[in-house]
Amino acid sequence: MTAALETRSPFLRVLDGTPLDPPPLWMMRQAGRYLPEYRAVRAEAGDFLTLCYTPKLAAEVTLQPIRRYGFDAAIIFSDILVVPHALGVGLTFEAGEGPRLTPVTDREGVAALKDRLDPDKVDPVYEAIASVRATLPAEVALIGFCGAPWTVATYMVAGHGTDDQAPARMLALRDEALFQSLIDRLVEASIVHLAGQVAAGADVVQIFDTWAGVLDPSSFERWCAEPLRRIVAGLKALHPHVRVIAFPKGATLEALERLADTGINAIGLDWSADRQAARRRLSGRVALQGNLDPLRLIAGGAALEDEVARIRDDFSGARHIFNLGHGIRPETPLDHVEKLVEAVRRAR
Ligand code: CP3
Repeated sequence: MTAALETRSPFLRVLDGTPLDPPPLWMMRQAGRYLPEYRAVRAEAGDFLTLCYTPKLAAEVTLQPIRRYGFDAAIIFSDILVVPHALGVGLTFEAGEGPRLTPVTDREGVAALKDRLDPDKVDPVYEAIASVRATLPAEVALIGFCGAPWTVATYMVAGHGTDDQAPARMLALRDEALFQSLIDRLVEASIVHLAGQVAAGADVVQIFDTWAGVLDPSSFERWCAEPLRRIVAGLKALHPHVRVIAFPKGATLEALERLADTGINAIGLDWSADRQAARRRLSGRVALQGNLDPLRLIAGGAALEDEVARIRDDFSGARHIFNLGHGIRPETPLDHVEKLVEAVRRAR
């Protein structure tokens, strides 16, 4: 990270403490299936993991949404399940079915995880980051990422996605020591993987905790807040200047408040968050990112434009990064994204 980039990137300025109007803008899952140019590269790659592990193609799809819409940040094209894959867990993506992993449900499964991340899986991510950074305009920040240990563990335990992640919740209740050992391995692996991404050129990292909302308060503290604290401390010990965004989807405001002192620089809000309450209780400590419902982007018209205006009003004068409340969906019309960009950047 150079001083020049710091002053020129609106996204980094907000993370570092300055409110901006208009706010910087990017979208979770901005590289993806709603873009025809993504679908073309995806078809060329054949399968999703080949796309993730081919630096030239991963770099290309990372840059596509920047070229089309001029977002203020690029997020490296990869997946949160690259970490378990690099720890030796079997992983495939079947068309229309989502991820399939070899389930890790006992001591033998945790003991079989590799001691270090397989370079064949993680080096292509770092190579793609270096190549994107070399091409990206200086004022556009680059985001690296990983899944939070809790969310990654939910997929590892079940072997696939579920509606409420009951398999991981059940394992955590029935065998706390075993579940803790899995979380500990993921904390360690996350620090190494995030540090590798920062060393390769990521300015910021986002930690996706998609399933934070299914835990009771004491489980949230133990499986989400405490591991996050350890990851941020470990990463910042290696890279003191790196900025960290946490996205604990579905977490209550009380739960979010517990994260504000973990050393993170920003919290991503999903669309259910009460923005004014979040602002009152969090914005003195962290920047806030979010939180347009991705369905409003599909609906377009007043459903989109009115909410964009409300979001800008609610965060006016605060440190805010405009984003969706979760990832953009494949069926989103391209011209609605264009409308979003115009509305977010319009003078108020
Ligand atoms: O543009 C970006 O945001 C960068 C790339 C990115 C992907 N996945 C690419 C992807 C990021 C940041 C992720 C994160 C991710 N992956 C999460 C956390 C964020 C969230 O959305 O909640 C989770 C839970 C996963 C695991 C995962 N990957 C699932 C459950 C699935 C299948 C469901 C789906 O959305 O298709 C994936 C596949 C995946 N990851 C796709 C993309 C573009 C679609 C695969 C394809 O193109 O065939």
